[in-house]
Amino acid sequence: ELHAAKEESKLVSKYECQRSTPLHHQNENLTDALSAVEEEAEILDRKEDYSRALAFCKAACSLKCLTKPVSSIQDIKGLPNIGDHSRDIIKEILENGFSREVERIKNDHSLQKKKMFMSIYGVGPSTARKWVDVLQLATIEDVINCPSINPRKEARLAYGIAFHEDLKQQVGRTTAMRIRDIVHNELKTLDGEVTVEVTGGFRRGKQFGHDVDLLISHPVEGRETGLLQKLIHRLNSKGLILHGVMEESTFSEEMLSKSSKLTPKGQLDHFEKWIGIMKFPKNLETTPQDSVRDRKETIKDEFKEEGKKRIKLDHSLTVTDHNHIGSGLQEQINKSFQKSSTSYSPSPASLPSSSDLSELVKLAQSEREWRASRVDLIIAPASQYAYALVGWTGSKMFNRSLRLYAQRELDMKLTSHGLFDMKQRKPIQASSEQEVFEILKLQYRDPEERNC
Ligand code: GTP
Ligand code: MN
Ligand code: MN
Repeated sequence: ELHAAKEESKLVSKYECQRSTPLHHQNENLTDALSAVEEEAEILDRKEDYSRALAFCKAACSLKCLTKPVSSIQDIKGLPNIGDHSRDIIKEILENGFSREVERIKNDHSLQKKKMFMSIYGVGPSTARKWVDVLQLATIEDVINCPSINPRKEARLAYGIAFHEDLKQQVGRTTAMRIRDIVHNELKTLDGEVTVEVTGGFRRGKQFGHDVDLLISHPVEGRETGLLQKLIHRLNSKGLILHGVMEESTFSEEMLSKSSKLTPKGQLDHFEKWIGIMKFPKNLETTPQDSVRDRKETIKDEFKEEGKKRIKLDHSLTVTDHNHIGSGLQEQINKSFQKSSTSYSPSPASLPSSSDLSELVKLAQSEREWRASRVDLIIAPASQYAYALVGWTGSKMFNRSLRLYAQRELDMKLTSHGLFDMKQRKPIQASSEQEVFEILKLQYRDPEERNC
């Protein structure tokens, strides 16, 4: 019984997509440690070289699929993707209860500052390094007051800095569902058959997420075109948009046989999408529909998932009509946004211009009845929907392994748009996730099992 994990380790498959990886598992002390060193590698490694971070992530993934706790280093003999460095960390924790490297990381103030800056929307490792190492900044206030930081050209960054307090608060599952409903209701006024699905971490069973990923489609191929523009227009006229950028579809048939662009964070696709920040009533989470059990679970999970960051929850169950946005919010509506622009920021007439950081900070710190949340809206045509759903459900690691597996084992190219058989030189259609797994000759995995 003590070494039950040992028997399991030998049976773990090579590819993450061949395994069942639950959200919560038996070796969280070990995977948390590996995540810490992964994070350090991600922050410090230059030139978008993600290989070291990836190695730690893969090692953690292997541990996540074990159903028994590891109690000695012998237990992980034969477990795939455990490199020497990861093994040393695991060994030390098993023997001493802690890892010196992880302790060093926790006490590395410079690294912790960079990590904090990276939690700002629009800030990546190189910006975080510059702010800490070159500009010697330590807090958000420092950033706001720093004369050499003027995100005039990058509206996203200005909103990220100004609304950091809002955006660092994770979005709860209930809120995500309400946001889906709000978006769906607007879409229904345009076309009654449109579908909206919450994807990303929430679909994998997470109770909290850094954003809400909504996949929009239409059962009739082609009827999805033009919907996103109109949706954003409607949401904006209701005062629900703070800032966002529209990306046009760049998809063409020949892309099915080509690899999508690989970034350190994942693979980019060619769907039409809107990436931005929306405004929602603060009490979206607190509704009479939520059962007490749900709320207890939410609270429990919030503390578990967030650990350090404790949010005070309002326990009083007030009645909220989530489709009604307060009049104060309506007043702030920008009705005159330019169609030609792809950036939908509030107009200068009613709200500060997108580039003026100090004006945005004033708005963020003002008394307001809404909170800002990150939302991704993606449009997928019916013929690509099954692949898009797999791609946008994630996890990133699960997708990565699916793609590697398809390429190496089947000589097929998998993207969020489809699957292309390189030998027969033709695309393979799928109408459900189950079918995607079937074509790939893989056992079907529920979204909850894709948490690698
Ligand atoms: P949290 O939001 O932090 O809870 O985690 P998440 O798993 O939802 O991550 P995220 O919202 O970043 O991404 C959700 C899924 O969409 C992941 O599987 C990503 O691979 C995928 N994804 C995110 N951005 C892009 C993108 O630009 N292109 C493609 N193809 N996929 C993306
Ligand atoms: Mn997400
Ligand atoms: Mn996202």
